[in-house]
Amino acid sequence: MRTLILYGSKYGCTAKCAYLLRDKLENADVIDLSQNYPVSVSLEDYNAVLIGTPVYAGKINKAVAKFCTANLDKLKEKKIGLFVCCGLPEKAMEQLETGFPKQLVQTARVKAYFGYQYEMEQLNFFERIIMRLLGKHRNENEIRHAAIEDFARSFAQENGK
Ligand SMILES: Cc1cc2nc3c(=O)[nH]c(=O)nc-3n(C[C@H](O)[C@H](O)[C@H](O)COP(=O)(O)O)c2cc1C
Repeated sequence: MRTLILYGSKYGCTAKCAYLLRDKLENADVIDLSQNYPVSVSLEDYNAVLIGTPVYAGKINKAVAKFCTANLDKLKEKKIGLFVCCGLPEKAMEQLETGFPKQLVQTARVKAYFGYQYEMEQLNFFERIIMRLLGKHRNENEIRHAAIEDFARSFAQENGK
């Protein structure tokens, strides 16, 4: 029984979370969709697929959205888990549910918010201005390690069913 973790990431937070999650699961492979699209992996080799994305300007990662839409029929046959990294905790689940295709959200056995991270020096000029307008001036690391652990535990239980 193998698990595939797919993610998109612009500045590395979702990537970090994907690998933290991988370390808590048995037999899991990780692929960065934002670097490897179209992905060469065969979904037939996996019975569980976990998909993670950051949110920018209210939208999920483009490569993630594209992959989910293009492979919706195959994904619906899998045990699905979805996770999101974003700076607005109160909007996290709403952004997850509106960002991923509806049918995938309905199929998902576990959905979670893993927190967020950003470093001002990594951002481009416009992104820095946006962050300043939002009152954000310093680097922040709010990755929710407990949420990643809970997700892995819940998914392992669900996956056993
Ligand atoms: C320019 C910019 C726009 C962002 N827009 C949103 C947003 O609309 N909603 C949100 O919840 N978080 C937003 N964030 C926070 C990111 O989603 C968060 O930093 C996330 O951890 C980034 O993940 P990544 O490093 O994997 O790309 C934004 C961050 C930046 C820098």
